[in-house]
Amino acid sequence: MTDRTRYMKKVTKVVFPVAGLGSRFLPATKASPKEMLPVVDKPLIQYAVEEAAEAGITDMIFITGRNKRAIEDHFDKAYELETELTAKNKMALLEVVQSAAPKGINCIYIRQTEALGLGHAVLCAQPVVGDEPFAIILADDLIDSKVSVMRQMIALYEEQGHSLIGVENIPRANTGSYGIVATDPVGPRLGRITRIVEKPKPEVAPSTLGVVGRYLLSGSIFNHLRNLKPGSGGELQLTDAIASMLDDVPVYAYEFEGKRYDCGDKLGYLEATVAFGLKHPEVGEGFAAYLRTLK
Ligand code: G1P
Repeated sequence: MTDRTRYMKKVTKVVFPVAGLGSRFLPATKASPKEMLPVVDKPLIQYAVEEAAEAGITDMIFITGRNKRAIEDHFDKAYELETELTAKNKMALLEVVQSAAPKGINCIYIRQTEALGLGHAVLCAQPVVGDEPFAIILADDLIDSKVSVMRQMIALYEEQGHSLIGVENIPRANTGSYGIVATDPVGPRLGRITRIVEKPKPEVAPSTLGVVGRYLLSGSIFNHLRNLKPGSGGELQLTDAIASMLDDVPVYAYEFEGKRYDCGDKLGYLEATVAFGLKHPEVGEGFAAYLRTLK
């Protein structure tokens, strides 16, 4: 901790934008949210909440939309189920059900009535976040790491005090699916962002460093979000608000440690299922044996 960062506000809040339609997973997402898709036995949104809780964040702010009731129910008490499991003395399962919401967290739900884009979703959190630094986690970017990526980012933020975005190197052919940053190197895995563009074509992308769904931003981002004009895809883009913030304050890109799975995509989701299935204490061995029979 430096003198500059000693009096900085602690990061206690995270925003989960979960109002998206999940159209890439239809019909699975026709009546239930894509964030409730399980990887082995836990829904994506639970991995995201656990990552935030592990990093010391307590206030979980969900930006929800239509068809998202299942997320609220998942982090709520399930009276009937819990009573039944208790009556049947299934205490291990009871513990599993009760620990879906990590202890000590507050869940706050804000409804985004129109799907105007990620930037708009984040702006919906302003009445709760105020001007504090806060995190954003996109649950469909599932990251397997020894230390949770949000914990890595908060530790770094506490050292240097600037907004941070999680990035990773991606194939140039895929730049059209990501926010892409250009950076000036600052330290190991760390660069100061000089440009950020949403979904550029490979021929004009300023680099191959793609933004992955982890952000730690100062509350001043809201000033930029409020003045946004529609960007890529006609939507209000968080990337554009960050681009406008670069004129006022430093924003850093951090190449996190961990393996990221794009669970917004069928192939990435299947890869995550295999990786997490192989590591699973209950089914890992059996699953590995089964996969060997496929060769
Ligand atoms: C969003 C962001 C994009 C980022 C991506 C990471 O895009 O707009 O900048 O690279 O998440 O997953 P989406 O995947 O929602 O189109």
